[in-house]
Amino acid sequence: MRRIAVITSGGDVPGLNACIRAVTRTALHYGCEVIGIRRGYEGLMNGEFVSLDSRSVAGILRQGGTMLGTARSERFMTEEGRRAALEQLRSAGIEGMVVIGGNGSLAGAYKLYEMGFPLVGVPKTIDNDQYGTDTAIGVDTALNTIADAVGRIKDTATSHHRAFLIEVMGRNCGYLALASGIICGAEMALIPERPATLEQVAHTIVESYRIGKAHCIIMVAEGWKPGLRALKDYLCDTKLNERFDVREVVLGHIQRGGTPTAFDRLLATRMGVRAVESLLDGSGIGKMVALRGAQSVLVDLKEATSQPKPLPEELLRIADMLCR
Ligand code: F6P
Repeated sequence: MRRIAVITSGGDVPGLNACIRAVTRTALHYGCEVIGIRRGYEGLMNGEFVSLDSRSVAGILRQGGTMLGTARSERFMTEEGRRAALEQLRSAGIEGMVVIGGNGSLAGAYKLYEMGFPLVGVPKTIDNDQYGTDTAIGVDTALNTIADAVGRIKDTATSHHRAFLIEVMGRNCGYLALASGIICGAEMALIPERPATLEQVAHTIVESYRIGKAHCIIMVAEGWKPGLRALKDYLCDTKLNERFDVREVVLGHIQRGGTPTAFDRLLATRMGVRAVESLLDGSGIGKMVALRGAQSVLVDLKEATSQPKPLPEELLRIADMLCR
């Protein structure tokens, strides 16, 4: 391959720039031209291409966001959209592509691969819901951001003897709530994978104060049902919010920004290098670069995108023992 492209697709995460830089410089090292695709699959279908050289990716290693821009694309999920993408890639003489994306973007990449285009995937998501890999670019930074925020909230919670409901991201996956519950010493983590009743949450709050705690921290995953609002309403109805001075915080997109941690910079760099090398030698075509233990491995995109990732049993067990 003489000309390859790199694209970031879906929600941004810290570490995307580190990966773009690694992809670009590795490809240049092997004598390839590098094309950056702007605004994810939307930009791909419109032919929004930019030539990248070593200087274009200078100074971005520690920057959050993505220098290429990103988007969530409905059109690319259609056959017509993918044909338009293929047409753009072929007319620009692009022979291979590194797709840095989450589950939806990698499922789209697999469909493009099935249509005959050589590509390799790199997993990024703060939710840690990508099957086939222990972790993905962005998870570690998001967890550190949450830990910092919860630490600050705990200071004020303890001073006022308040209870806090803290919502973190995770549409379908409770990893961030579970892991942050453990590392922040929360009293409870509410996650979509484990049902918990409103009465159980109320019991946890009452019990925390009964045994002498000066606060009660409840981590709530965005995807937990019935959700933060219903929980708040219930606590108001039962007047528990007044008895225990309950407040809520939604951390929101703060979790997706900021400079990537050392772990994410290294992971993004390793994955970017592996993606290019395996694209060029052919071993990574139709695959996703994954981390298993300390090793970087290649997993079929079909396998990686066809099933949900279960939460680690070990973390569930630890939370059951320690979050109380
Ligand atoms: O898919 C990752 C994620 O961080 C989810 O946890 C969250 O629900 C979603 O992105 C938010 O997406 P958007 O930025 O498009 O609102």
